[in-house]
Order: sequence, then C-alpha cells, then structure tokens
Amino acid sequence: MLKDNHGRTINYLRLAVTDRCNLRCFYCMPEQGNNWLARTELLSWEEMLRLCRLTIGMGVNKIRITGGEPFVRKGIMPFLSELSQIKGLDNLTITTNGVVTAPLVPELKQMGIRSVNLSLDTLDRDRFLAITHRDEFDKVIETMHALISHRIEVKINAVVMDGKNTQDIPALVALTKELPVSVRFIEEMPFNGGGQHYQTLLWDHMQILQTIKNSHPKIAKIPDPQYSTSYNYKIPGHKGDVGIIAAYTRSFCGTCNRIRLTPQGVLKTCLYDNGGTNLKDILRSGANDEAVSSAIVAALATKAIDGHEAERTTYADGAHQSMAMIGG
Ligand code: GTP
Ligand code: 5AD
Ligand code: SF4
Repeated sequence: MLKDNHGRTINYLRLAVTDRCNLRCFYCMPEQGNNWLARTELLSWEEMLRLCRLTIGMGVNKIRITGGEPFVRKGIMPFLSELSQIKGLDNLTITTNGVVTAPLVPELKQMGIRSVNLSLDTLDRDRFLAITHRDEFDKVIETMHALISHRIEVKINAVVMDGKNTQDIPALVALTKELPVSVRFIEEMPFNGGGQHYQTLLWDHMQILQTIKNSHPKIAKIPDPQYSTSYNYKIPGHKGDVGIIAAYTRSFCGTCNRIRLTPQGVLKTCLYDNGGTNLKDILRSGANDEAVSSAIVAALATKAIDGHEAERTTYADGAHQSMAMIGG
C-alpha cells in the first residue's frame, strides 16, 4: 500500500494524457489555446502504460484519465483498452468534455469503463458558446445520453462562475429529476492559463448550496463515499443526485488519496504543487522499475498536508497555469 508522509493512503492516480483541447473554457485556458507541447515532450502511450503498471503494483487501484481533452489524442482507445486489462486496477474512469465522445461510448462500455465525468457548465446553448468559445453543446448532450443509455455512471462537472452561469444552477439541479446523473457544482479555481488576477471567490460552496436550496428546498444531505471530492445531496424523488466540490476552499485535503501525472510526465503530489518530480526524464535516462518506484516513493514524502497554502495564494495572484496542463 502506498502511503504519504502524513499516513494518507494513495490509491488514485489522475493521468493527464494531453494538454490539447477542442474547447476553450475560459476558466481553463486562453481563447487562443495554450502553447501546445510537442509530441516528444509528452509521455508516450508506452511510457504511460509503464507508469500505470508500476503505480498499480504499488497500490493504486483507481486511475482517472484527464487532459486537456483525452479523446483528442490519437491512440487513446487502444491505450484505454490495454490499461483496462491491467490486473489490480479496479476502477478506470475518464473526465471528458464530451465533444467527440458519443460514438466511442459503446467501445468504452465494452472495455468495462463504469463511470465517466462530463464537463458541462450550462444547459443553455448560447452560454455554452460564451464559456467554451465553441458551438459544441449538442454533441456534449448526445454524449450524456449515450453514456446513460449504456448504463455508464455519469457525473456532470459544472464550474460555477459569477456572472456566467449561476442562473443555470436550478436547471442543472432539475436535470437530476428524470436522469440518473450526479450533477456536481465546482468552485472555480485560479487555473485559467492567462495570468489574469482572480477576483475573490464569490461562489463558494455555501453560496452554491444556498442557491440550490432556494429552488429546491427539500434537498437533503446524503452520505459521501470515502475519498469523495464532493459533498453530496439528493432531492427526494429525483433519480440522480447533486454534489458540491469545494475545490478552492479545499476542505478535502485531509482525505486526499491522489497523485497526478501531467502530460509531460511530471508527478505532482497536489493540485497546487508548484514543482513536481519529472518521471519522464527518469524513464528516458534508462532507469529500471525499482529506480522509478523509488522516485515515486520519494515524491510522496513531500506531499503537503494542507494543499500547499503558500502556492495556492501565489496562484491566486495570477492564474498562470492552465488546468489543461495539470489535468484538473
Ligand atoms: P471522482 O473520482 O468521480 O470523485 O472525480 P474527481 O472529483 O476526483 O475528478 P474530476 O476530474 O471529475 O474533477 C472534478 C473537480 O474536482 C475538478 O474541478 C478538479 O479539478 C477537482 N479536483 C479533483 N481533485 C482535486 C484535488 O485534489 N484538489 C482540488 N482542490 N480539486 C480537485
Ligand atoms: N476551476 C475548477 N474546475 C476546473 N476545471 C477546469 N478548470 C477549472 C477551474 N479553473 C474542471 C473541468 C473538468 C475538471 C477536470 O476540471 O470542469 O471537468
Ligand atoms: Fe478543455 Fe476541459 Fe479545459 Fe474546457 S476545462 S478547455 S473542456 S480541458
């Protein structure tokens, strides 16, 4: 079992397979996109499989594939297929924006993928365009229905942005009435890649909950699964449920079970980790599995207990990093 220096079990790897994306959500990257990484700077699929096998051998049993948008990288489906067959990996999940995902859903189902998180901040086509700078709303909705009809669990991630989509909160909650989905509202974090100053967070988890209660007063707390990032609620009679992720006020550091691998192969022990361990360089220097494992164990010894408070403040002064470069 993999533990950090504070006794927390680490069993969840978030693997960002690309920095590229076919949307431009303004809270994640600038409209012109990021300075995309060259292919040689990215971990290859083989390198990723090796790191996944190693970390699974060390105690990771859940891997989430993120990006950027994972499905824009060529070769993703054969990679997922191989990954899904590694023994010891109980839970292979994906976070996607759903733009090109719908036709792939039957194949994902065949691989045994049971759960997919879908980014969707609004149910209004115009606001979708304003937030993502791309007119792809219909394809995302198609993906949502394809996932539901294939009985893949769907969690919808909606970042709550002052002045952009707060009017969507009641409609997104209402989606849970007839659809068996979890709609999760996320506090916006300072990772838009543009370096602009961030205003003080106006829509924290309490404000979000109050807004939900105004339209759905019967909402009730339900138990949170172990390691859950969200506080979870249900409206009696609804098929789905509702969650709130306090990602910025970060009240879940105490039960944090995750590590991250960026597209460049940097192992980050916290979302707010300003540095990290470059596993790609270690792999490419010809290191054997034992040496790579030692580097991972050494990195874990540096995992912060408190969400890197100092770095968090630094980021808030200028959101230089793009979420797509970290993997969310
Ligand atoms: P589940 O495995 O379904 O619980 O998903 P998840 O919440 O771990 O992952 P997802 O990719 O759906 O991310 C949802 C939101 O939670 C995103 O905004 C992430 O950036 C945020 N998030 C995930 N892990 C962390 C974390 O360790 N710290 C913080 N602050 N936010 C996180
Ligand atoms: N703040 C909060 N969540 C974000 N995501 C991307 N950028 C941000 C941000 N600045 C979310 C996306 C995606 C998940 C991986 O991260 O909505 O669903
Ligand atoms: Fe793409 Fe996700 Fe970033 Fe939006 S949040 S630009 S969908 S990587």
